[in-house]
Amino acid sequence: MSAKIQPPQLPKGTRDFYPEAERIQQYIFDTWRQTAESFAYEAYEGPMFEHLELFTGKSGDEIVSQLYNFTDKGGRDIALRPEMTPTLARLVIQKGRELRKPFKWYSMPRLFRYEKAQKGRLREFFQLNMDIIGTDSIYAEADLLAAIASMLRKFGLKDENFVIGVSSRKLLATYLEEIGVTNPALVYPVLDKRLKIGPEAFAKALAEANVSEEQVEKLDALMNCKSIEEVEKLLTKEAAKNALDEIKELFETLSAAGYKDCIALDLSIVRGLAYYTGIVFEVFDRGKSMRAIAGGGRYDSLTEKLGGERMPGVGFGMGDVVLADLLREYGLLPEPKQSIDFYVASFTNDIKKIFSVAKEIRSISSCSVSHPLSALKMGKQMDQANNQGAAIVIYVDGDKASEGTFEYKDLRNGSMHIGSLEEILNSLKQG
Ligand code: HAM
Repeated sequence: MSAKIQPPQLPKGTRDFYPEAERIQQYIFDTWRQTAESFAYEAYEGPMFEHLELFTGKSGDEIVSQLYNFTDKGGRDIALRPEMTPTLARLVIQKGRELRKPFKWYSMPRLFRYEKAQKGRLREFFQLNMDIIGTDSIYAEADLLAAIASMLRKFGLKDENFVIGVSSRKLLATYLEEIGVTNPALVYPVLDKRLKIGPEAFAKALAEANVSEEQVEKLDALMNCKSIEEVEKLLTKEAAKNALDEIKELFETLSAAGYKDCIALDLSIVRGLAYYTGIVFEVFDRGKSMRAIAGGGRYDSLTEKLGGERMPGVGFGMGDVVLADLLREYGLLPEPKQSIDFYVASFTNDIKKIFSVAKEIRSISSCSVSHPLSALKMGKQMDQANNQGAAIVIYVDGDKASEGTFEYKDLRNGSMHIGSLEEILNSLKQG
């Protein structure tokens, strides 16, 4: 007896998108794209794999430990992209002065991270990236945060459902200096995990990074501040005050533009990635029941670290996984059923006539047109039309129609009519 062959398996942490799932995915992409374009960001893309060294040493240890990397047939060390920002920095360095600054770009890359697959975290996912390159102005941050809020509202979320927590690496850096912490690069990844790892593990990790108990208390005091006034009382250094002024201006601008209820000061946000230098932010479901929906910040020295000239940048990434889970929870995902405009049917199975009428409709409109692909009884053709969600069925050989007209049925209300193709297109619009 021959051994039974195991059917192929889906790799861990990846997804298949059958048409119903793909329809929802396209809805997410469409809403991302529409919002980015309504804020005048331009689309760009890059390769799905890069030289390994683009990511090592610049993105932070966690993301590097999650790389999918391999040596190619030419002996080069290659990694599948785990994030888009280093690729963007490479693009910026390559074109250098040719690019008119500042500019606003967006992309919707497929990314790969060797993570422990769990709710909200997969090994392959999509991420909207919006970035502004070439300005130090805090209004770049304001533009990005306004785009996030406006996008989440477009998805149907209310301001009470989500919050954009805002913090500042600049503020944290000067405060750490002020309280005598000398190795901030070691401390940031620990601070980033503060809420995820629990108080004991947090205290232990800080002790390992040479942070004293007294310093931990001072750090806690800052991270727990709920208002700019509370923070002001803790600061003595001018640099820290400047960083706070920036946050103030950001909040005032966003409040004036109608986004007051979407933003909150949250100095517990540090961000895991190594390249952030200024404002950092994360977007959460108000219940904080899920992982961050999006995260980003200012990175003013990434291009320099990669061997280019200094070029300030700020941006964010929003993953599709947490977002879709959240929209599903709030009942905000669209009906995943197929819907088409026309189904062309024939009582006599005149397939040639069907093909020619379908061609005619496609040449005068951008409507979707389907039809049977084999000889079928009318009942079966109507079943197909209904299953595909057709709005109108056109009969190519109905005996009541005269030259140049067709009998047709509007499936949205069950009514029968006779008309030319132009008239049928009009009824589609009116229905
Ligand atoms: P990040 O925080 O690593 O930032 O990712 C941003 C978002 O991508 C997360 O909030 C989450 O929604 C999603 N995400 C990350 N990892 C996964 C995963 N394994 N599975 C599903 N979703 C995930 C960055 O990637 C920065 N490069 C963003 C940025 C752009 N900063 C400036 N410009």
